[in-house]
Amino acid sequence: MSQFPKLRMRRLREHPAMRRMAQETRLSVSDFIYPLFATHGRDVKKEIAPMPGIYQLSLGKLIHEVDEAAQLGIPGVLLFGLPAKKDPMGTEAYESTGIIQEAIRIIKRAAPEMLVIGDVCLCEYTDHGHCGVIANDKVDNDRTLDLLAKMAVCQADAGADVVAPSAMMDGQVGAIRAALDAKGHTGVAIMAYAAKFASGFYGPFRVAADSAPQFGDRRGYQADPSSIRQALREIEQDIEEGADIVLVKPALAYLDVLAAARQRFGHPMAAYNVSGEYSMVKAAAENEWIDGRRVTMEILTAIKRSGADIIITYHAKEAAAWLRDNGH
Ligand code: PBG
Repeated sequence: MSQFPKLRMRRLREHPAMRRMAQETRLSVSDFIYPLFATHGRDVKKEIAPMPGIYQLSLGKLIHEVDEAAQLGIPGVLLFGLPAKKDPMGTEAYESTGIIQEAIRIIKRAAPEMLVIGDVCLCEYTDHGHCGVIANDKVDNDRTLDLLAKMAVCQADAGADVVAPSAMMDGQVGAIRAALDAKGHTGVAIMAYAAKFASGFYGPFRVAADSAPQFGDRRGYQADPSSIRQALREIEQDIEEGADIVLVKPALAYLDVLAAARQRFGHPMAAYNVSGEYSMVKAAAENEWIDGRRVTMEILTAIKRSGADIIITYHAKEAAAWLRDNGH
């Protein structure tokens, strides 16, 4: 039975100040983590074609970008590395002179207040482009665990505050927690890419990180896009293995997974607003088919409304500037 005319929802909408007071979800710059791509060399700032505004950066340029992010109030950066050499075992991922370790050290020195998160996955470092080592034409789960654990320890040794395993190997969170603790890194947190789906939305990232698989695809280890119950079991498992933060990725096509996980688990939740989601907005805005700023803020708000405490997004800097301009 309608309560109209007694109830008029428009009373909450007509006056801008009323709208502002009644607003249920407020984006804040504190919600954002900014992903960065570190590369060897000097003075390299190479724009990633499908991701306007996002660059592969050598260390000096990287620091500049981190400074800008810090000035905007962004609390954390997530680091990906482009190694000098790739090999079947992804060796540079766990060498102390590897690009990501160098990047962590230099950021921690230049901007100690910035939370530094290292991506823990082999796909950028292996010549075959898979997230683990290959045996019998398959990604060998258990042998990969040792390497991921070594990679996480190596990042922690360099000063990472958080490690973010994204390889989707079974048992990776437990293996990493055990290795970190054994080396005294009990204070380093794990942000687990718990529900990471096998997604077409990673396309531009694979250009950015030069990490496309050279044969087959990732469906043998990343989660099936059609299945939410499996995804929730995966999150539960990562929590049991010691994840401090659990992550859903991509964000937009999986807001139902995020909302369901939010209902079920008390852990801080992150969502990864991935490269393809960014590229689509940029391409449409470039063509003036959509208002890029408006759509971006709508998307980020939707991700938060669905249950994310933390949003990993390539929009972080521009969104932070827009929030600041709006007086937030
Ligand atoms: C590494 C990794 C990927 C992304 C983050 N970590 C790529 C992949 O799994 O292919 C994707 C991020 C994005 O698309 O923005 N495994």
